[in-house]
Amino acid sequence: MTIPHGVADALAARISTRAYLDTPVSEAQVRDLLTLAARAPSGGNLQPWQINVVTGEARQRVIDAVKATQAEHPFGEPELEYQIYPKPIIDPWRARRFACGEAVYAAMDIPREDKMARLTHVARNFEFFGAPVGLFVSIHKDMQPGQWSDLGMFIQSLLLAATEAGLGTCAQEAWSIYPKTVKTAAGIPADFTLFCGIALGHADPLAPVNATRTERADVDEFARFAGF
Ligand SMILES: Cc1cc2nc3c(=O)[nH]c(=O)nc-3n(C[C@H](O)[C@H](O)[C@H](O)COP(=O)(O)O)c2cc1C
Repeated sequence: MTIPHGVADALAARISTRAYLDTPVSEAQVRDLLTLAARAPSGGNLQPWQINVVTGEARQRVIDAVKATQAEHPFGEPELEYQIYPKPIIDPWRARRFACGEAVYAAMDIPREDKMARLTHVARNFEFFGAPVGLFVSIHKDMQPGQWSDLGMFIQSLLLAATEAGLGTCAQEAWSIYPKTVKTAAGIPADFTLFCGIALGHADPLAPVNATRTERADVDEFARFAGF
């Protein structure tokens, strides 16, 4: 993999990595990445992000706990802390979400009819796609939409810093459908909302899923210019 240098390069190079090598990532390296990511701006400099990092036994504890819950609740716990997508989700967002899923399955050569293979891939979310390090991003329940947007600033900063360090990442809202289980197993206080997980590790360069590339709408689809 070519290591990017500079923000523009890292922005262009970052992708969601969904298959990893076993190669460990040290605590020191994760600390360095978190220190960089914490330079992200936040309204009033509240820095509302709370991060729990797991590897080794701690990582396995969360994975095992979620597997145990899944036996009873395969599609998530009955009580969710937030809804991932609008219900119903309308176009253009519906179409974009569909295309993103199809891009992943096309890279893996899994056809629409092969529901089992698709479900097996989705289940890999709950193993951090094999990444040796998992991070959980949570936020105090008192926080407002402004502070939730600060989480996004932090997360993208972390993903870019990891990209520049030659590491792969995948943000994972999937974990949020097991809030109680993850929070208990990862030691996240009950008065915090679990937003997402993040897989972190060395990308498996040979895994077909890592060839997934997603499209973006043209600037004219989401921006209007005036007064230029
Ligand atoms: C907050 C957030 C949560 C996400 N949750 C998941 C997830 O649970 N599982 C997954 O495979 N991808 C997840 N993704 C990855 C998106 O699908 C991906 O970012 C999008 O399709 C664009 O592709 P790219 O990251 O490769 O550019 C998430 C991304 C973000 C920003």
